[in-house]
Amino acid sequence: MDISIIGSGYVGLVTGACFADVGHNVICVDNDRKKVETLRSGKVPIYEPGLEEVIHRNVSAHRLRFTESTEDGVKHSQVVFIAVPTPPLANGSVDLTYIEKVAREIAAVLTEYRVIVDKSTVPVKTGEKVADTIRRYNKAGVDFDVVSNPEFLREGCAVNDLMNPDRIVIGANGDRALALMKKIYEPFMAPIMVTDINSAELIKHAANSFLALKISYINAISAICEASGADVEKVADGIGADKRIGRSFLNAGLGYGGSCFPKDLAAFIAISEQLGAPFTLLKEVQEINKTQRERFVKKIRDTLWVLKDKKIAIWGLTFKPDTDDVRSSVAIDVANDLLREGAVVQAYDPKGMARIEELKLCPGIEMKGSALEAVSDAEALILATEWNEFNNIDLDEVKKAMHTPIIFDGRNLFDPGTMTQLGFQYYGIGRAGG
Ligand code: UDX
Repeated sequence: MDISIIGSGYVGLVTGACFADVGHNVICVDNDRKKVETLRSGKVPIYEPGLEEVIHRNVSAHRLRFTESTEDGVKHSQVVFIAVPTPPLANGSVDLTYIEKVAREIAAVLTEYRVIVDKSTVPVKTGEKVADTIRRYNKAGVDFDVVSNPEFLREGCAVNDLMNPDRIVIGANGDRALALMKKIYEPFMAPIMVTDINSAELIKHAANSFLALKISYINAISAICEASGADVEKVADGIGADKRIGRSFLNAGLGYGGSCFPKDLAAFIAISEQLGAPFTLLKEVQEINKTQRERFVKKIRDTLWVLKDKKIAIWGLTFKPDTDDVRSSVAIDVANDLLREGAVVQAYDPKGMARIEELKLCPGIEMKGSALEAVSDAEALILATEWNEFNNIDLDEVKKAMHTPIIFDGRNLFDPGTMTQLGFQYYGIGRAGG
């Protein structure tokens, strides 16, 4: 199949690379000239495990190329995916200006039948608006179909998620478009679920909200565990063993962050209100997420008493491990909370430090070259993002380097018993003694 993907961000790039890897001819389009040049020169502008290899393999095999021209993409493909950003507006609803602009651009160069697929996360009923826009701006009156095909990939394991999906959701209103979509996904050997366009759009927001709900649910339980002396890890195992509930996404921690959950929840709340069916439960999910971080910072303050001028180390700044993405990272929020109270924050992250400095997300933070350097002379260590590197570190060395060996484990990475045996004062999330 000949496919183009408009928008070469996380979603567009991974989707394009994986489509090429299963044998399709893919053109990735982006209006950012610098990004296109970077990609053409063989460099990948984001860190995503395995992605660089897939891109190089498919560029060499001439199945993947990059362009700035939407016309080039639309002309040479049967199916055109839209994977541009849908950022949040101040009131929580979604800014759809990029989607609208791309719809107009496609309409302007549409000369024969194409399937236009929305991959970006959008509010329900966006597909209808995209179709209206293309119809309005396509002077030639060319036939086309709009399809919704939401992505479910997680950063840090996006290539694997895309190559081995749990399900593929295709929201289409016509057989012609559906047949082409099925052909694209044939090599992935995954269950395909066909729905109408509105349902497909809703599936994405409903799925992400449900996952965030699971996280807030276990985080609320972690507060009850701390107040009662129970252990949230055991509670999560106990409830997660029930197949109807499942253990995944029941890991208590500092709360969820990233470019999807916070934005998608706010958007879903806004859409539900606009539709006259307010989803108020999700407001509580947001509130618990915020409180979870506040409780954590309070625990640090209660333990260290005064934070001003105290040296505090932070391990992990990205919103989750195995990514360089620092958008809406709870770790950064914690760092800024401490900096505001006058603490000296020494941080280390395997992939996120350069971007944080570039975007000035943490003014005043001291970035260190290694995990051990970050804990040097520190009065406490905060584990904020659970990179595997921290799991393999020599904790005796860490203890020796610290001024006072106090650990606040925001992701329950370490075993409380082992840490106490090693001589640390250990505080986890929702765990006995924490
Ligand atoms: C999410 C969805 O999982 C994915 O399907 C969708 O396409 C995009 O949004 P992503 O944001 O990449 O993916 O990360 P995810 O692994 O879902 O984690 C989101 C946040 O939740 C992270 O901050 C993570 O630390 C947190 N989290 C996750 C928990 O606190 N506990 C958990 O049990 C799981």
